[in-house]
Amino acid sequence: MKHLVVICHPRRKSFTQTIGRSYAQAVEALGNEVVVRDLYRLRFDPVLGESELLDAEKRHVPSAVRREQRHLAEAGAVAFFYPLWWAFMPAMMKGYIDRVLASGFAYDIRDDEMVPRLSGKKALIFTSSGADMAYLRRSKQWSSMRLLEEDNILSLCGIELIEHLHFASVLPDLPKRSLDKHLAIVAGAVEKHWGKAPVAQG
Ligand SMILES: Cc1cc2nc3c(=O)[nH]c(=O)nc-3n(C[C@H](O)[C@H](O)[C@H](O)COP(=O)(O)O)c2cc1C
Repeated sequence: MKHLVVICHPRRKSFTQTIGRSYAQAVEALGNEVVVRDLYRLRFDPVLGESELLDAEKRHVPSAVRREQRHLAEAGAVAFFYPLWWAFMPAMMKGYIDRVLASGFAYDIRDDEMVPRLSGKKALIFTSSGADMAYLRRSKQWSSMRLLEEDNILSLCGIELIEHLHFASVLPDLPKRSLDKHLAIVAGAVEKHWGKAPVAQG
C-alpha cells in the first residue's frame, strides 16, 4: 500500500519534522511505498485562489494542487504531522486542506449534501503543543487540535481517522530522553497499524 506523509513545519530539526521523518522511515522499512510531502520544503502555496472556486466547468486546478491531489488519490493511508500554533494548526496546513481537499476531488455536493470521494483511505494525525494537556483542555485549544478528527474535515471526505497521537509539553529544549520516548510511541503506532500481523500460534 502506498503511504502519504504530509509534514508541516519550516524547521528541519523541529520535533514535527523529526517524528514525521521517523514515521516515514519506519513505514518504509516494513516494505511499503512512502511519499513524503514536506510542505515548507515544497514551498506549497497555502492561498486558495479565486479560479479554484469557480463552477466545475470553469474551474482551474493549479498543477501544484493537482500534484498533491494525485499523491493523496494514490495513497491508501495518509499521516499528517503539524504543531499547534496560536491555538490552531499552522496556516500552511490549513491551506493544504483548503486547496487539496477540494470540491470535485475530495467530495461532491449533491442535493445540498456533501458526498465523500476519498472513502477507503485511512489517516493518522500527529500533533504537538508547548502547553500541557491540562492547559490545552482548560483553554479549549484541545478542541481545535481535534478539528481534523471531528466530523468536520476528514470524515466529510470519507477518510477514516485511525489514530491521533498528541505530544504535549514539547518545548525547544526537549531532553533527548523525552524525544526518544516520543519516537518510541511513533514507532509503536507504526507497528500497531502497519506491522505484519502476528503469526497464529498452535
Ligand atoms: C507561532 C507559534 C505559535 C504557538 N502557539 C502555541 C499555542 O497556541 N499553544 C501551545 O501549546 N503551543 C504553542 N506553540 C508551541 C508549539 O506548539 C511547540 O513548540 C511545538 O509543538 C513543538 O514542536 P516543534 O519543535 O515541531 O515546533 C507555538 C509555537 C509557535 C512557533
